[in-house]
Amino acid sequence: MAFVDWDATYSVKSEVLDRQHQKMFQIVNHLHEAIFAKRAKAELESVIGDLMEYTRTHFAEEERQMAQHHFPEAKLAEHRDAHQQLVRQVEDIANRFRNGDQRMAAEVMCFLVGEWLMKHILSMDKQYAPYMKGAGSPPHAAD
Ligand SMILES: [Fe+2]
Ligand SMILES: [Fe+2]
Repeated sequence: MAFVDWDATYSVKSEVLDRQHQKMFQIVNHLHEAIFAKRAKAELESVIGDLMEYTRTHFAEEERQMAQHHFPEAKLAEHRDAHQQLVRQVEDIANRFRNGDQRMAAEVMCFLVGEWLMKHILSMDKQYAPYMKGAGSPPHAAD
């Protein structure tokens, strides 16, 4: 069973951002599976790298879209702070991974990001959903 599962309750009414969230869930699940199958440290390191990189990509795109869709500036600032806080925590854990107990750091990273993501999407990302109507659909998609 997957550690985290995306379903329609997580939809933020943007195809692009929903797809990015699904991809993040996938990477977290990959990390979870790699930890519990006791895969080689090189694989853990590579999945952690993917997770960090994709998280940054997603945050940048999400912040860009919020601004583009006129999400209120004060809320956007608060949202950016939440993203930055996670990035800092994840960087911290990545340092622990490089310097010490790799399996423990990988577990902390997996649970932290998995739980953070589920809560963050439902509480903060959902707030921009009403501003996103029609965003991210292919230009010729039927509505
Ligand atoms: Fe967000
Ligand atoms: Fe998000």
